[in-house]
Amino acid sequence: MPATIVLGAQWGDEGKGKLVDQLASEADWVVRFQGGSNAGHTIVIGERKLAFHHLPSGITYSHCNLVLGAGMVIDPWKLEDELDRWFEFGGERPEGERLFISERAHVTLPYHRILDGADKEIGTTGRGIGPTYGDAIERVGIRFVDISNVLSDGGRIEQIVNRMNGRLSAAGLDSSITVDTLRADLEWISDRFGAAVRPTGLLVHHALERGENILLEGAQGALLDIAQGTYPFVTSSVTSRANATHGAGIHPGHVERTIGVVKAYTTRVGHGPFPAELHDEVGNHLGTVGHEFGTTTGRPRRCGWLDIVPLRHAMRINGFDEVVLTKLDVLGGLEKLEIVVGYRVDDAEIHEFPADLSMLERAEPVTLTLPGFESLDLGDWLKVAREAQATGRGYDVLPEAAQTYIQTVEQLLGVPVSSVGVGPDREASIERRA
Ligand code: GDP
Ligand code: IMO
Ligand code: MG
Repeated sequence: MPATIVLGAQWGDEGKGKLVDQLASEADWVVRFQGGSNAGHTIVIGERKLAFHHLPSGITYSHCNLVLGAGMVIDPWKLEDELDRWFEFGGERPEGERLFISERAHVTLPYHRILDGADKEIGTTGRGIGPTYGDAIERVGIRFVDISNVLSDGGRIEQIVNRMNGRLSAAGLDSSITVDTLRADLEWISDRFGAAVRPTGLLVHHALERGENILLEGAQGALLDIAQGTYPFVTSSVTSRANATHGAGIHPGHVERTIGVVKAYTTRVGHGPFPAELHDEVGNHLGTVGHEFGTTTGRPRRCGWLDIVPLRHAMRINGFDEVVLTKLDVLGGLEKLEIVVGYRVDDAEIHEFPADLSMLERAEPVTLTLPGFESLDLGDWLKVAREAQATGRGYDVLPEAAQTYIQTVEQLLGVPVSSVGVGPDREASIERRA
């Protein structure tokens, strides 16, 4: 059963990309199973920083096969940009060689981006994600496998264009789509990516039969899940463990390990309730030291203390076997550390994450306070991580207050923290001592 799932446990940007990159050294396949170019996953190798939106974070290992799975929505133009950037960096064109696009994945077209661009409520990434999934759910979307059939049916193209233009004008937008532009777009997608389109569920299934290792890379996070997140301030896909295998086209029985990635504090981009949010010097510290700017949109991320209340909700949905605690270094230099353990709403104290957003908006965090630890620069943190690796001392190399923080998180979540991040670099992680 060699499939491992990596999931974000908060509102995204927990550091999934870094972990997937680390684990990919031992994976044969890395599969994205939901989301699209709204994701922004960063990996840092020495001086080099790479950000991926569609491409699985295992790409730097040439032995890794890469899948854009059936549960994804794929913007071929953004994918082309990413592949061009990868070519500049890695000198390789993986599409059709070791990068495969699911025939069942839905195509994001300029129409979807235009429609999403009109969003003012949610604070989306503007990448056309909601409208593409909306078309999929309404059963009017175009999957990669459908492109040639659509192209050979003039009546169908006209129907699609009429529908798109109806939606654009109902949204008060000036733009319109023509039969010629849609046809040209679909022809380009087919020429550019046709050779990479495959029954990827079958490919992964056969790999599992051969005993190969599969890594399922989540995008977004548990609180952005369409069903279990802070609806409507969520993304339009199921971000959870339950969808990881489904979106990849295999069954859940293959999974032997599910890892939740938890940032040592909380961030959120876009609108929506965020009880732990800080508008003070601690919030500034987290945003500045943590370089908390969106990887996809460049927007500043909202910052706050670690919040256990939504994390316990995320735990229940996903049943993480272990947690990877990232960006612990960013807490360095704060005199004391707080962790949100409950909310005071009106006159009651609650410990379960409510679905009612008005409760979340009224929620006052109840926190526990722990001692802080010193700040180090990233070079020194990297030395600490290397020392842990060389000596096998694990978390013992960390300041005592940092160890207390890790133990407290473990106690509050009831799950082991299997490694902690102390910098963006691929090597800046400390494994728990065996
Ligand atoms: P993802 O969307 O979950 O893959 O996360 P992002 O890449 O959007 O955001 C995480 C950011 O934090 C990236 O800039 C990473 O390079 C960086 N990062 C990841 N882990 C650590 C860590 O342990 N410490 C620090 N300081 N930065 C980290
Ligand atoms: P990664 O994979 C953080 C947020 C957007 C917005 C909401 C809906 O890098 O963790 P969408 O464009 O998906 O319809 O926007 O979801 N969002 C993310 N926030 N990290 C992400 O991905 C996100 N993808 C979407 O900011 O609030
Ligand atoms: Mg991100």
